[in-house]
Amino acid sequence: MANTLLKISGLKVAYGGIKAVKGVDLEVREGELISLIGSNGAGKTTTMKAVTGSLAFEAGDIEYMGKSIKGKGAWDLVKQGLAMVPEGRGVFTRMTITENLQMGAYIRTDKAGIAHDIDKMFGIFPRLRERKDQLAGTMSGGEQQMLAMARALMSQPKVLLLDEPSMGLSPIMVDKIFEVVRDVSAQGVTILLVEQNARRALQIADRGYVMDSGEIIMTGIGREMLDDPKVRAAYLGE
Ligand SMILES: Nc1ncnc2c1ncn2[C@@H]1O[C@H](COP(=O)(O)OP(=O)(O)OP(=O)(O)O)[C@@H](O)[C@H]1O
Ligand SMILES: [Mg+2]
Repeated sequence: MANTLLKISGLKVAYGGIKAVKGVDLEVREGELISLIGSNGAGKTTTMKAVTGSLAFEAGDIEYMGKSIKGKGAWDLVKQGLAMVPEGRGVFTRMTITENLQMGAYIRTDKAGIAHDIDKMFGIFPRLRERKDQLAGTMSGGEQQMLAMARALMSQPKVLLLDEPSMGLSPIMVDKIFEVVRDVSAQGVTILLVEQNARRALQIADRGYVMDSGEIIMTGIGREMLDDPKVRAAYLGE
């Protein structure tokens, strides 16, 4: 069995008196594409933020490549190969597409490699090449999502965390985003995907987790979960 890259155990996170994550266990092995689904307010984003070091946790632990990330900052973790595309994308709106991609490579010093990878991103997302000198803030939502993903990939991550990449996008853009997630996964990047689009997320996942009110209430093989009557009723609208 492949190495475990991320191991979340007994994770608890609270915002003041609000317990947002109440003892979550979740594991991501090398090469896997894991989907974490669940309704609004379930605690998915909070879990992701704890993993990337941008939110402190009060109990439990998160291990990345066998070592606790406790106390490590986001910068340190990106350097070690953990990249996140946040909910709402967070591209640098006053910078051009190319500048955004360069920012994504801020932890790297190999100039030629960076230029090569920017070109590679333009190959994956031709729309970004067409707009390379345009300010990111003038791009459509779907285009900004593509840019956010490309920017994260510029850090050459081992593990890519995606928080609702399909949110607010047109059906065509949603198709494109899921296609890219699958391609990136096929190229060997390990992925933890948070999605409200449970059907699509479970279709492409190796394994899935369902989160509800701060807890993991179900886990299994992605495609098998699609056939689970409880998942169908609660998350697929059937
Ligand atoms: N900064 C904050 N301060 C206080 N409470 C927060 C904060 N961020 C999140 N919460 C609360 O924590 C709970 C979990 O929120 P979280 O954003 O992790 O959910 P989510 O599963 O990502 O939901 P969504 O699908 O809507 O993005 C919610 O009840 C939310 O209101
Ligand atoms: Mg969220």
